[in-house]
Amino acid sequence: MAEWVIEPATVEALPDILKIEEACFSAPWTRKMMEAELSGNPFAHFLLAKPLPPCEVDCGSIVAYLCFWVVFEEVRLMNLAVIESMRHRGIAKALVTEALELGQAQAAVRAVLEVRASNHAAHALYRSLGFRNVSTRPKYYSNPTDDALLMELDPIVLESGQPTPAAGREGGRIRPLQ
Ligand SMILES: CC(C)(COP(=O)(O)OP(=O)(O)OC[C@H]1O[C@@H](n2cnc3c(N)ncnc32)[C@H](O)[C@@H]1OP(=O)(O)O)[C@@H](O)C(=O)NCCC(=O)NCCS
Repeated sequence: MAEWVIEPATVEALPDILKIEEACFSAPWTRKMMEAELSGNPFAHFLLAKPLPPCEVDCGSIVAYLCFWVVFEEVRLMNLAVIESMRHRGIAKALVTEALELGQAQAAVRAVLEVRASNHAAHALYRSLGFRNVSTRPKYYSNPTDDALLMELDPIVLESGQPTPAAGREGGRIRPLQ
């Protein structure tokens, strides 16, 4: 049975998004940065995962989000987090897959991201989707200082081999994106 559903974010979700952001990152995005992505950036898309009844966490809350840009031929994954109690259920993978499908539908052919060199869980996630390391930016991150690993998926190839309707994806349901 589906545990969660993915849908586009609205500004009403901002308090919940900030709570997760602050719990997950040592140098979290600020409210202003989140607001800009939710409402001021024409390239930005913001997806949420929400629990479905019977909910293990507050039914009105969110359990994960993904912010990404589609800039011409490129999908740029900008920010991704899943609350601790809902990890290892495929939610991050479903969010990224949804972003890649949406990018492909807008003619993107490549996906890129930067990630802390120390973030092994995230590396494993992106590698499981076919991303590979392309370069390193030394000391790119602060608090604590860390290198950035640049990863890319070029060309975008989904597990299904093609963009497919997301409904029926294991573990969750997807509401159509606007
Ligand atoms: C990284 C993160 C987003 C993964 O979310 P998740 O929903 O648990 O990931 P998924 O369940 O979709 O995992 C998909 C694949 O990623 C890999 N993976 C995810 N977490 C992992 C971990 N802790 N260790 C090793 N591999 C991991 C596995 O290959 C997994 O596939 P499998 O379950 O079939 O083995 C989550 O741990 C998180 O929010 N971390 C804190 C914030 C963060 O680091 N964000 C990413 C910044 S780039």
